[in-house]
Amino acid sequence: MASVPVAVEVVAAVLVLLPSAAPQELPAPWGWACDEGLCVKGVTSDTTTSLNQCKLTCGPESAVWPRPASIEHSSEVAFFLPTNVTRRVSCQDAVCPLLDQAIDLFLDNLQKYHPDYAGGSAPWEGPWDASIVSHTLDLDVTIWNADDRLSLETDESYQLFVTTIADKTNAQVVAATYFGARHALETLSQLVDYEEGVDALMVVSAATVVDVPAFPYRGILLDTSRNFFSVQSIERTLDAMAANKLNTFHWHITDSHSFPMQLETLPNMAYYGTYSSRKIYTTTEIRNLVEYGRIRGIRVLPEFDAPAHVGNGWQWGEEQGLGKLAVCVNREPWQSYCVEPPCGQLNLANPKMYDVLGQIYNEMVELFSPIDLFHYGGDEVNLNCWNTTDEITSWMDENNFGRDADAYYNQWSVFQEKSRQLLTSANADREVPGILWTSHLTEEGRADQYLDPTKYIIQIWTTGTDYLIGELLEKNFRVIFSNYDRWYLDCGFGAWVGEGNNWCSPYKGWQAVYDNSPLDIATDLTGSAHEELILGGEAALWSEQADEMVLDARLWPRGAALAERLWTNPSHNWEPAETRLIRQRQRMVARGIMADRIQPQWCHQNEGLCYLKGIHQGCQAMGDAEVAGVTKA
Ligand SMILES: *[C@@H]1O[C@H](CO)[C@@H](O)[C@H](O)[C@H]1NC(C)=O
Ligand SMILES: *[C@@H]1O[C@H](CO)[C@@H](O)[C@H](O)[C@H]1NC(C)=O
Repeated sequence: MASVPVAVEVVAAVLVLLPSAAPQELPAPWGWACDEGLCVKGVTSDTTTSLNQCKLTCGPESAVWPRPASIEHSSEVAFFLPTNVTRRVSCQDAVCPLLDQAIDLFLDNLQKYHPDYAGGSAPWEGPWDASIVSHTLDLDVTIWNADDRLSLETDESYQLFVTTIADKTNAQVVAATYFGARHALETLSQLVDYEEGVDALMVVSAATVVDVPAFPYRGILLDTSRNFFSVQSIERTLDAMAANKLNTFHWHITDSHSFPMQLETLPNMAYYGTYSSRKIYTTTEIRNLVEYGRIRGIRVLPEFDAPAHVGNGWQWGEEQGLGKLAVCVNREPWQSYCVEPPCGQLNLANPKMYDVLGQIYNEMVELFSPIDLFHYGGDEVNLNCWNTTDEITSWMDENNFGRDADAYYNQWSVFQEKSRQLLTSANADREVPGILWTSHLTEEGRADQYLDPTKYIIQIWTTGTDYLIGELLEKNFRVIFSNYDRWYLDCGFGAWVGEGNNWCSPYKGWQAVYDNSPLDIATDLTGSAHEELILGGEAALWSEQADEMVLDARLWPRGAALAERLWTNPSHNWEPAETRLIRQRQRMVARGIMADRIQPQWCHQNEGLCYLKGIHQGCQAMGDAEVAGVTKA
């Protein structure tokens, strides 16, 4: 409960007398003092602390990310070692094993605060010296109900009370569900940091946190078809999501490029569709990832994109006597038949295609079991592909469907309805809400003609100023925001089907991600926030130009900015969040996430001095030079 014991005079003397002091004679002469919520660097004295301690105790939210709905904390800390944490739990049988694992993860995360953390498969004990600190952190966790699966109705709220008496700090967690309790442990881990002067951990000595998310759906999309991502890199993504209380890993597992999903009953899909036999997710790996996510409070949500965005993997139908299952597969010139190479769409004229699709759903429902949502994809159908394929055009003619755009949209919507029925029967007749991307079917005047708002949730990927968003809300569709002008993390790199920049440039900086408010967008477009229809949002990483080598830096820390928007939905812009975001980025790095660097380390040590004053929303779309110009003027 004290500030770091640093021998001030000695340090000062070294400074004055031996300006060429060798590095091992550090610590450096600097200390930090809390001034109106910011840590100010100066020469160390009785009133300064280490930077870590200052960040933990100075600001109103401590170092917690995303900011809790309500938090109060003391400005003192207690030192302890991660080897001196005790646990007491009160929970029902269904969730106690989950809670045990969550506490183990919590302890791992504490170990990782040590700068020498070396990881490895065996539990890392660290160089902690038990003779230095005799203090315990006593966990006391109570979970009321037995829910062990996430749904849109899951209560993720929690309360956390930290108190310190003598040589014990008690951390009491109370939550309705396991999911709330694991969020509480995440928060508690963020009220802890490493203290270099003591070589121990420190925890804020007293805190009261009462917390609840603003939105029930808080996601990250990863596309594993354009490029493959190893299981380890997906696990790392789930770890980082857990650190930010994101709760949905939307797995865009297949596309026209490759089919990396192993299916026991349809081995041909992956056999024909993977980039190589090593670039495959086995059924065991998929099940393990679903469980890995669940322990971290994350639903692994499968997307099976159709009837477009299929292709490689579907070429085996004719050979097996089922006829052509997909058309336009790898057809050229691709510009005429799809939005990017390679092309492919399902063959609506072939009833056997539905048998295969139903079988895929059967296995997916089981692999991701139990599903509470299912993503049907459903975007970017190219009518010219179908309309230039003899098998489809003669089927349209024979049935007198017509051949104009509406005729094709009609057949697409029939396909969608059949898909929904196949999925429902695969799921033992238990209907789950389906998610669909905005598409031609959701365009002006069409959405409620083709889709039932009680059955479908629409994921918006148009811009945040599209009037269509208002129309969907007024037609009572529940929506998930992924407007590409703010929440597409693949934007701002070089083009790959041409030259110059890619289609959705520029890069979306963390500030633009943070400031994107679904409720404000809805209010601007309709005059009402439509809170009950807005389930939340998701940042998307389409992987044409990303694989596991760049994954972490693309997703983080921008995914953290998204997380605070969706967990806290702050009424302010990004500015007051900056110092905590930088801290959260450092924390993710300590946990093994190779998050992007967004500033010089000097900014981390000199809070509030880096950004231009008075930058506001709206400037974010401009380049740095323009922003500088604007502020100067
Ligand atoms: C802390 O842990 C060490 C190592 O497990 C143990 O020897 C020591 O007694 C513990 N101290 C307290 C106060 O519990
Ligand atoms: C399909 O092709 C026919 C015949 O060429 C044409 O009349 C029709 O407009 C086309 N439909 C679409 C949606 O392009």
